[in-house]
Amino acid sequence: MSHDPARLVLGIETSCDDTSVAVLEDGTRLRAHRIAAQDVHQLYGGVVPELASRAHLELLPPLVAQALDEAGVSAGELSAIAVTRAPGLVGSLVVGLAFAKAYGLALGIPVVGVNHIEAHLHAASLEHGESPWPAVALVVSGGHTELVEVRGFGLYRWLGSTRDDAAGEAYDKVAKLLGLGFPGGPILDRLAAGGRPDGFAFPRPMLDQPGLDLSFSGLKTAVRQALAPHGAPPYPEALLADVAASFQAAVVETLVAKTVRALDACRARALTLGGGVACNRELRARLTAVCASRGIPLRVPSPRLCADNAAMIAWVGAVRLRRGEGGDDALDAVASLEESGLAMDGSAS
Ligand code: KG4
Ligand code: ZN
Repeated sequence: MSHDPARLVLGIETSCDDTSVAVLEDGTRLRAHRIAAQDVHQLYGGVVPELASRAHLELLPPLVAQALDEAGVSAGELSAIAVTRAPGLVGSLVVGLAFAKAYGLALGIPVVGVNHIEAHLHAASLEHGESPWPAVALVVSGGHTELVEVRGFGLYRWLGSTRDDAAGEAYDKVAKLLGLGFPGGPILDRLAAGGRPDGFAFPRPMLDQPGLDLSFSGLKTAVRQALAPHGAPPYPEALLADVAASFQAAVVETLVAKTVRALDACRARALTLGGGVACNRELRARLTAVCASRGIPLRVPSPRLCADNAAMIAWVGAVRLRRGEGGDDALDAVASLEESGLAMDGSAS
């Protein structure tokens, strides 16, 4: 039997409201991948941290059993466990970490902690192979909006992020204002296709300022003001479509403009997307055109790998295990990205 710790890695992701488990062989072959979305948050129009951790607690053990079954391996054959340790909701992270530590101890295999944002940066590698460097990564989700220069594994430079709401959070909040469901991104994406992008003149936040930071809370306020004359939901279909299309045009235009600036600043040889908002059809179409005109690849993971998932956690875990990391008993949850220990200054973390 080989002693490669990355031979058969069990990946576990519980940082927010998706419980996910993967089995990754040799750092490349996805043998099983399960994602259990927590429907309970739909009732509240947003993620409720207390309910999320309780749901992880219920969902995780059976999901591990299902993933092992799907992979056709027994727990005793696993060589290591990779688990998200930061950033995220502390209560949710703790459930995954406690499970991983106990399971690893019982099986006598190493546990390696993985940074969730680093995993998004590399999520495209599972399907697209290694990126040409330097690359720019745009990670846009319900919790994050990050532009990062990636010069190789562990070599990251932080270019910009949102100063307030994340891009996905803006989608979710605007959907709530419109009286629509949660998560709002896919709903607004669909509605926008039937509306006029110039129906409302929403602001393009921070586009007139230098730098690569973003801001979305003003846009949400502009939507609220535009809806004021129309009273409370439910709103007519045509109004919903126009607001969705105009809002989406503002978000996408802002994201694309900042991404182009980042590609220029880094002389990037590839663009990688990650996070749930990377599923957005308009964003993908616009960035496809940007990359085609520059002759560089656009690396977009398939929808399951864009959203929060354990496959990307297992992938980063496998790389770190091969670098001799893992087996750290003092593996604690860290909520914030700034304190998550991810070196964002271009040095190896
Ligand atoms: O990465 P993810 O699954 O979870 C985290 O937030 O970490 O991302 C979920 C976010 C939600 O805010 C959701 O509304 C947004 O991604 N989203 C979209 C689309 N699909 C999901 N936003 C815009 N367009 C979409 N098609
Ligand atoms: Zn995420």
